[in-house]
Amino acid sequence: MRILIKNIKKLVQTEDKPKLKVCGKEMSTINSIDNAYLILKDDIIEDFGEMKHLPEIEGNYKCIEAKNKMVFPSFCDSHTHLVYAGSREIEYNDKIKGLSYEEIAKKGGGILNSAKLLNEISENELYEQSLKRINEIISQGTGAVEIKSGYGLSLEGELKMLRVIKRLKETTPLIIKSTFLGAHAVPEKFKGKQSQYVDYVINEILPKANEEKLADYIDVFCDKGFFTIEETDKILNAGTKYGLQAKIHANELDYSGGIQIGVKHNALSVDHLEYVGDEEIKALKDSETMPTILPGAAFFLNMPYSPARKMIDAGLPIAVASDFNPGSSPTGNMKLMMSFASVNYKMTAEEVINAVTINTAYAMGISNITGSIAKGKKANIFITKPIPSIEYMAYAYGSNLIDTIILNGKVIH
Ligand code: NIG
Ligand code: FE
Repeated sequence: MRILIKNIKKLVQTEDKPKLKVCGKEMSTINSIDNAYLILKDDIIEDFGEMKHLPEIEGNYKCIEAKNKMVFPSFCDSHTHLVYAGSREIEYNDKIKGLSYEEIAKKGGGILNSAKLLNEISENELYEQSLKRINEIISQGTGAVEIKSGYGLSLEGELKMLRVIKRLKETTPLIIKSTFLGAHAVPEKFKGKQSQYVDYVINEILPKANEEKLADYIDVFCDKGFFTIEETDKILNAGTKYGLQAKIHANELDYSGGIQIGVKHNALSVDHLEYVGDEEIKALKDSETMPTILPGAAFFLNMPYSPARKMIDAGLPIAVASDFNPGSSPTGNMKLMMSFASVNYKMTAEEVINAVTINTAYAMGISNITGSIAKGKKANIFITKPIPSIEYMAYAYGSNLIDTIILNGKVIH
């Protein structure tokens, strides 16, 4: 079955020769076609071009009129924790009163609070709660998402999370990648025995997760007050044995050395990056690792902003993800991340679009199949409401501008 979308005001982020990522100056270019058509066949992008070159289409097809509207590739959100139990708005109040992220964590709040809630509910209930968030991000234009474990912090809890992620992969139209984040925090049971917990993650949880093939990637919260460089090294080495490439939380709270250890392990991405200096930029320059910023978390926690401008100007790529989680970014709205990225990080409209599509696709290891409009890529796209320009997306930061969602070549709504 084919879908023809015609009279598209602008078909955004088209590629004739698909790239896996875009870096530095290249980020300020977005290829697009004015007054365009797009043909989807089954779950694949079959053809696109200017309306004046629209070919004859054989057989039955569905036609969608897109006059005054734009078509974008679906957002790829390469960093989330959207499988969680309950919510943490009460802690948010503590934050407003001035307690820091680390102070809340020390009070047994933060990640440990979510771990307690998660270990109390059934796998089914966790699936139902998470499915609501999946449906919400689909309606906001996301077509691919990475989801981490890390609120179980016990064998049962971590497997519960990873199995829920697997079920979401099987039952929803999103492309989903799963990341094992056993080393997210030290659970109550191991208080004061962090190195024993690291061994437990490596020797007890990881092998079981591997038996059921539940994880695609491995993550560690490598930062001040959480896991050290040495512990991160050890966990990532263990991940390598199971073929799990790293995607790590780094340099959110300090110059933790997390970026360098990520690069040493050829991590697919290093994420957060509030603390980045010349040393860190140099390490990233000599690597294939995608620097990923999480503007929602920095906004919500009132943290210093990552020097994204400096990184792009130094020739680095940047990806922008939501970090959807109950503590530091309770939203997976990627259009809102576009606005945060432009206002707070001084990224241009073109840079931001690259950062939420092709570069986040790279940071999930799927930029060969999604993240742009290219022949043979997945038919994951959205049609906007009538909008005047691509700049309008980030500018109209409180408006829902998404009209039609198509995933795997099917109109979702
Ligand atoms: O990416 N920084 C570490 N982990 C999450 C926060 C998780 C939480 O507070 O629940 C993050 O922001
Ligand atoms: Fe995170």
